[in-house]
Amino acid sequence: MRARALFFCTCALLLGSQLHGAAAGTWESLTDMPVALGEVSAGLLVSENNQTVLVVLGEGDGGTYLYNTDTQEWRSGAPRQFEGNHIGAEVIGNKLYLFGGLRSGGNQVQIYNLEEDEWQAGAELPYEAGSAATAYIGGKVYFCGGIRDDDTIAECITYDVETDAWEEGAASMPYGVNHAASATYNDLLYVAGGRMGRNRVGPGFDYLQIYDPATNEWELGPPLPVARGGMGKAVVLDGLMYVFGGESDVNGPNDETGLTATNVFTRVDVLDLATLEWTLDTPMTVPRHGIFPVVDRNGAVYLAGGGVRRGNSQSQANTVFTL
Ligand SMILES: *[C@@H]1O[C@H](CO)[C@@H](O)[C@H](O)[C@H]1NC(C)=O
Repeated sequence: MRARALFFCTCALLLGSQLHGAAAGTWESLTDMPVALGEVSAGLLVSENNQTVLVVLGEGDGGTYLYNTDTQEWRSGAPRQFEGNHIGAEVIGNKLYLFGGLRSGGNQVQIYNLEEDEWQAGAELPYEAGSAATAYIGGKVYFCGGIRDDDTIAECITYDVETDAWEEGAASMPYGVNHAASATYNDLLYVAGGRMGRNRVGPGFDYLQIYDPATNEWELGPPLPVARGGMGKAVVLDGLMYVFGGESDVNGPNDETGLTATNVFTRVDVLDLATLEWTLDTPMTVPRHGIFPVVDRNGAVYLAGGGVRRGNSQSQANTVFTL
């Protein structure tokens, strides 16, 4: 309890001064997506001629959209079999793996091969869930929390990529959440923020939950400086974890927290994974929720689509964040 209170104080002091203060990142707008998408899933794959291709899909359109980061052009790929949304995604062996989802395909693993422009099915999940926190660690995809039967669960299940099989036995999260930001670093799983209960926009929570697959134990770290959900995936760059945007049912605008009048966040929270200290980076120029940031081989973070208003909202925005 004492440690938690201390973190709160530190964060409150830092907040005002750093929200628009010294930060390293630069935002740029790129060619808009051909369609507007919300609740995005994404991954960066490498094409046959060694170019980087951003694969984007989500809510609002069943298509697969491919953005070549060299030519800055969009084209369409084969559509996935189960449309769904709020789908977990990981890039493994230059394929985009989709896990679960809401509305459709909740127990599906859908695997996209860019070279063949083809989708393949993986082993079904033991239950239907979407908006879970995922990470790929040591040959296994951890699929934790999320929404199942219109409620939030705390269970974690794992998918063994090589054997194409689901396993149980991973410890449940201390706090089951949906719409949280997850990432991995040094074989640990980090889950920041998120919401609980039914799938509706709320203020969200500030928990930082850290799982160690080696000990099968969770612990809590210093909380996310502003409670919220809808930040999509978190990305790790040089030992720093970035949490972008998000949404809240708290009414904006609020310059101190970076909440806009449409109730999405501009803020970019950065967790130093060595010291577990939170700082802020340059606010988003197109603040959104339901995004799925992905980092390329040069450390550029791509964010395509996402809602510009809290709740049901889609956009064609395509931005890149570079340090
Ligand atoms: C592919 O591109 C990466 C970086 O963009 C480069 O480091 C690598 O050498 C390239 N590989 C080949 C086979 O050209």
